Amino acid sequence: MDNAQDKSKLKFGLVGKNISYSFSRGYFAEKFNSEHLPYTYENIDIQSIDELLPIIKHTKNLKGLNVTIPYKEAVIPVLDKLNKRAKKIGAVNTIKISKKGRLKGYNTDYYGFLHSLKPHLKKHHKKALILGTGGASKAVAYALQKLKIDFHYVSRSNKKGVKFLYSDLNTNIISSHHIIINCTPIGTFPNINACPDIPYEGVTENHILFDLIYNPSESKFLSCGSLKNATTINGLKMLELQAEKSWRIWNKS
Ligand SMILES: NC(=O)c1ccc[n+]([C@@H]2O[C@H](COP(=O)([O-])OP(=O)(O)OC[C@H]3O[C@@H](n4cnc5c(N)ncnc54)[C@H](OP(=O)(O)O)[C@@H]3O)[C@@H](O)[C@H]2O)c1
Repeated sequence: MDNAQDKSKLKFGLVGKNISYSFSRGYFAEKFNSEHLPYTYENIDIQSIDELLPIIKHTKNLKGLNVTIPYKEAVIPVLDKLNKRAKKIGAVNTIKISKKGRLKGYNTDYYGFLHSLKPHLKKHHKKALILGTGGASKAVAYALQKLKIDFHYVSRSNKKGVKFLYSDLNTNIISSHHIIINCTPIGTFPNINACPDIPYEGVTENHILFDLIYNPSESKFLSCGSLKNATTINGLKMLELQAEKSWRIWNKS
């Protein structure tokens, strides 16, 4: 088979759509360089998930992939196996490719989020609002369950599991949920003056505002939190932690 693995030339990559910005490519290039590893990490920019299997089949020495927007859920039917946690979450951001070319899916976003939030938690951090209902929000919800933090989804539309529309939110709801997590792309560069439409007046110094966005490093959402002296956390640590977890998965025998 074409994708038999020669250890000295292992390849890794990121699967997504319009991903020229890719944090992961730069991160792993830097890692391979500083650790003197003879590996490569490339972007696999595809227009449809149907393009993925032929690419995997014809790429020699491919060992692992990260998956990003918009394929974290769409990739699941393409895989041979799913890790238990990824199955519960319902989204995959890491694929391990065996020597025989079999694909197993994992989710490391949950790990990155959990361990970047945990050091900031205090006793009063019992209830959270998750803004957005995409793939990333599922990993966040799973991590909050693990941390025994109650949460509600906030969405633009009424759907199963959604407690609040943005128009339902008021200062009381905001002030009684001490963790607010932006799992939408609103505020990402270049749209840096945009932020989720929530009543920031309800934010206090007892709040944590966590934005999964890392570019810009301080989004408008986070700067609104800073104005109220809330603890603010951007998505950079989460990204680094999920990348390192993926790396450990690819290298586990
Ligand atoms: N730091 C990290 O490690 C990390 C990891 C994963 C993702 N991320 C970031 O997290 C964000 C979400 O990722 P994702 O994969 O879940 O993305 P996604 O599926 O494209 O979008 C997430 C959700 O955001 C809401 N949304 C989308 N566009 C919106 C708009 N214009 N206005 C209001 N709400 C909108 C939607 O929820 P509703 O339809 O319910 O409103 C959507 O389901 C992205 O910015 C991504 O880069 C960061």
